[in-house]
This record gives sequence, C-alpha cells and structure tokens, in this order.
Amino acid sequence: MNHFLEISHLSLKQIESLLQRAQYFKQHHKYPLYSKHRLATLFYENSTRTRVSFELAARNLSIPVVNIDLDNSSENKGETIDDTLANLAAMGIDLFVIRHKQEGLQQNVANYLGNSVHIINAGDGQHAHPSQALLDLMTIMENKPDLSQLKVAIIGNLRHSRVANSLQCLFSKVGVQELSLIAPQIWQPHTVHFGHTTTLLRDGLMDADVVICLRVQHERLLESEQLDLASYRRDYALTATTLAYAKPDAIVMHPGPVNRGIEMDNDIVDGKQSVILRQVNNGVFMRMAIIDALISQII
Ligand code: NCD
Repeated sequence: MNHFLEISHLSLKQIESLLQRAQYFKQHHKYPLYSKHRLATLFYENSTRTRVSFELAARNLSIPVVNIDLDNSSENKGETIDDTLANLAAMGIDLFVIRHKQEGLQQNVANYLGNSVHIINAGDGQHAHPSQALLDLMTIMENKPDLSQLKVAIIGNLRHSRVANSLQCLFSKVGVQELSLIAPQIWQPHTVHFGHTTTLLRDGLMDADVVICLRVQHERLLESEQLDLASYRRDYALTATTLAYAKPDAIVMHPGPVNRGIEMDNDIVDGKQSVILRQVNNGVFMRMAIIDALISQII
C-alpha cells in the first residue's frame, strides 16, 4: 500500500491487517520509531477530530508533524496544490494528510507526485472518508465481532455523506449481514453501493445492532435540498423512543461533529449505548495503523 485513498482500493486482507495492527497498538502501546519520516496535514475543509487524530497518530510513531496554515500559504499567491506539495516533498515531507472539497483530488495529486510520497485521503468532498470508516468498523467489532449476523442502520443526510459512502463500501467487503439506509426522500443517496434505503425510521431501525447517526450537512445542501429542521427532528431524530426500535443492546455511533438536539438527543449522545467517544479514541490507533502500513509497505 503506497497511498491511502479509498476503501475500494483495499483488499479484505489489507482491511484485516489494519484492524489487527490498530488493536495491537491500542493494547500493547509498543510503537515503531519512524523519526526519519515527516508528515504534513493540509485541511482545506474544517476539522477537529480527524486532523488532531492524524497528528497524534504520527507523533506516537515519532514522526515530526507540520500543520500547513492554508490561510497564509502560497496557494493564495496562485501556486497550484501540486506545486505546493512538490515543494513540501523537496523539504523532506513524505506523508501528506489531505482533506479537500474536490472529489478525487487526493487521487490526482498521488498520480502527479508518484510513489516517492504517501498521500492519505482525510475526506474528499462527498466522496470518501476511508479512515473514518475503518475506525468505525474497529469500534463495531470491539462490541459486535460477528459481522455476518449484524444489522447496521445509518440515519440522516446520506446524500452528502462521504462517511456513509465509505461505510457502504467497507460493510459490503467485510460481509455485514444487513445495512439499512434511512433518510428523508430529498437526502436519499443518488447511488447505493450496498444496503437498502427507506424513508421510515421505524422500519429501518427495527432490530438493528448498530445505529449510526449522521450530521445534517448544512454546508452541502442545495436550495432544493433544504429541509425544515423541526420536521427532520420529528421524523428522524434518535431519541429514547426511537432508539427502542433497535435491539436493547444496540450501540449508537456518530462520526462527529454532533448537532445535539437535531439528529440525536443529549441523553442518547451521552447515554450508556453511545460509543461516540470510543470511536474518537480508536481513531488515533487506526490512523497509526494506516501510517505504519504506508511506511513499512508490509501490506
Ligand atoms: C465527518 C466529515 O468531515 O466527513 N466528520 C469527521 O471527519 N469526523 C462528518 C461530518 O462532517 O459530518
């Protein structure tokens, strides 16, 4: 593995190795020393969790990290992203964690820069967010290891969610039994890779083992896709009443950031079925596994 761009590029064996390696790091706290490498983060879209998680993952592996300040970078003077990255690479940076609104941008820069550097996709538009999907799977498997018996429900703004796209791809590869995709008509996905869609929360949630809520992606909604938040809440919010449709031991997840009181009630976010902070904790170990795999080239 030279670049980490999307789940569809990974074999089942690579996915299993990443899960195992992340669990190893989590349990043993024995980390390789990669102090000769350098990692840069370039986030052209907002982020708290993903950027900090990659930074901590790199630091745990003894890799110096540079966070590029894009508000004050030479791209504002007309430099292309390819040139910016080529210049950073010339200074010795060999790992680039990139989030960008343009779909496929990370693939394009990987094609341009070749295999002397490693490009990591931390989210490209509405297309893919592969590290989030892997850390979600890690969290699911800690709680519900038998994926062949599992019903997962994803609720919310599926049309604009790169997380949901990567999850569909990953769940189909690892053999999750059933995936229900729950959204109002105007936020139904344009294409479904895996799972079945419904507009009815009750039907979709019935007997689910894992419930994943998505954020209402206000910044991505077109004029025709606007939905009154009160009616969204009424029909789709995860509350004590609606969570009861799922199995009693169902786990509740959210990639963050959570809009409390919109997609989920406070007592569900903080409740005993919630594993939201466990996802965040696992994220650091999964990103260590990803960086480790890129540098060691073992998988
Ligand atoms: C997600 C993202 O940016 O795609 N957040 C994250 O990385 N944890 C989901 C979102 O923004 O709603």
